[in-house]
Amino acid sequence: MNKPVILTGLRANNQLHLGNYLGAIQPMVNLQSTHAGEYQLNMFIPDLHSFTTPIDHKQLYRQVIDSLKIFVAAGLDINNPDTFIYRQSYIPAHSELTWILDCFTYFGEASRMIEFKDKSTKAGSDTVSVGLFNYPVLMAADILLYDAKFVPVGEDQKQHLELVRNLATRFNSKFDKDIFTLPEPWDKQMEFSNRDSGLRIRSLRHPDSKMSKSVEDPAGTIMLNDDPELAAKKVMNAETDSIGSIHLDWEKQPGISNLLQILASLSSRKLTEVAAEWEGKSSYGELKKQVAEQVIHFLQNLQTKLSTINEGEIVKKLESDEVAMTKVANAKLLEAQKAVGLRE
Ligand code: TRP
Repeated sequence: MNKPVILTGLRANNQLHLGNYLGAIQPMVNLQSTHAGEYQLNMFIPDLHSFTTPIDHKQLYRQVIDSLKIFVAAGLDINNPDTFIYRQSYIPAHSELTWILDCFTYFGEASRMIEFKDKSTKAGSDTVSVGLFNYPVLMAADILLYDAKFVPVGEDQKQHLELVRNLATRFNSKFDKDIFTLPEPWDKQMEFSNRDSGLRIRSLRHPDSKMSKSVEDPAGTIMLNDDPELAAKKVMNAETDSIGSIHLDWEKQPGISNLLQILASLSSRKLTEVAAEWEGKSSYGELKKQVAEQVIHFLQNLQTKLSTINEGEIVKKLESDEVAMTKVANAKLLEAQKAVGLRE
């Protein structure tokens, strides 16, 4: 019997920061240990998705490898026989199935995707690419090629997951055959991965928005390759408020709440527990000091591990998994090609 597939895609278009680590990398690494033996874990880098928004193309190839090194430093065990790592662009079936699915996706439904609407409104339709519009269909191919059942994604991807389910249902019923496996709906995904959908690490300087890549907000963002002392300074300079006593309250005290969240995540404790410990105290400086210490400790550890990672081993594993997954993907692609009449 094949094991049920858990599939996660982590974009590697920029250097990674603490928000990426705690929000996406850590939960993914945890999936491997909490579901050891029972599931297959497909952990891929959607590199074709990387330039649906502008990036530095000269960096992309390196960035993919560097991100994988960070996953391994974070604890991802690439020798686990149920874990497969691969790059989307190395398996052409992703692109080929996307075209087929495109022809069964309605312009209206794709236009309703919130992420597309948001980004295209900001950029204007003469600078926004068809690639961004088509992004969720490529995502559908990523998922459907491998019969993935579990695709734990954040709230921002909920609507895309729903589209994937709709496309799979439409295709199966048009051709009267169970070609594609439907991934579970989003709330089931959350339940399954035991993921805290509310986990959003905020910028240290602008705690009303998410932590994001450094060029936009260097002082508010802790990059994983930051010098630990510099990162500690960023924490000490974090924006707080003038209320003067500590409460977990994302509305009124987003800066303080963010510090509590970082402290809890880095020490693997519950946010409520950490918040209770600090509740009502007036020592913002003391809180910052503790967070800064945790950040230093975390970065030193990660960076030390990173320096011992054998890149050659990762590339070897990638290449062999890409061969194995190409077979799986091609078999599914062939079923779809037969259904639409391209193959006998
Ligand atoms: N769209 C996802 C994101 O931005 C990345 C992604 C691409 C993905 N293909 C996927 C996630 C397939 C899960 C499954 O985070």
